[in-house]
Amino acid sequence: MLARPIRVVVLLSGRGSNFQAMIEAQLPIDIAAVISNRPQAAGLAYARSQGIPTVALDHTQYPDRAAFDALLADEIECHRPDLVVLAGYMRILSPAFIARFEGRLLNIHPSLLPMFPGLKTHERALAEGVKIHGCTVHFVTADLDHGPIVAQAAVPVRADDTPDTLAARVLAQEHRIYPQAIRWFAEGRLINVHGHVNLKDDLASQSVLSPGT
Ligand code: GAR
Repeated sequence: MLARPIRVVVLLSGRGSNFQAMIEAQLPIDIAAVISNRPQAAGLAYARSQGIPTVALDHTQYPDRAAFDALLADEIECHRPDLVVLAGYMRILSPAFIARFEGRLLNIHPSLLPMFPGLKTHERALAEGVKIHGCTVHFVTADLDHGPIVAQAAVPVRADDTPDTLAARVLAQEHRIYPQAIRWFAEGRLINVHGHVNLKDDLASQSVLSPGT
């Protein structure tokens, strides 16, 4: 275990419920800053209400992704993070950005990867008629939504689900597994075995099977 709480920078674009779940889990981390590409993001307002430093960098004010990501990366580095947490950060990151933070960059995605990378995951799960859906915490690599998996949770899909009801069931599990995964990282327990993430000294399952609500 690291001797001090790890320093975390959170990136988000919207509501920030995963960020809120991180706060409520009382993790052994020091959140150095919350950064958003959307100045009006509700997650930024929540961070301010918690006394956490916030930074708004409006991506629409920059000429292209590379320019914005370079500035974003510089801003993140100012906070000397051990870990960068994407919590509903809804912009594709450039390869140069990912290279700077690879190995300390976590994301949560609302599907059981490698199924349904990208957007509109709940709509696509319903369209495919899958009976199990869920969420995934993974390390970010240049391969979009395909980095090494840290934790997953599965929920049943019901015949009368809409994208909204399914999203709500999945989100409840996101709020469980993301804090857990960050705790494992903070405790130095995530190890890379041949490109797969295992838990050090532990055969505990990194999956959650939810009966749903
Ligand atoms: C979450 O469902 C998260 O998995 C998803 O955005 C939502 C953010 O909600 N992320 C992605 O789709 C990333 N590709 P939140 O702002 O309430 O945490």
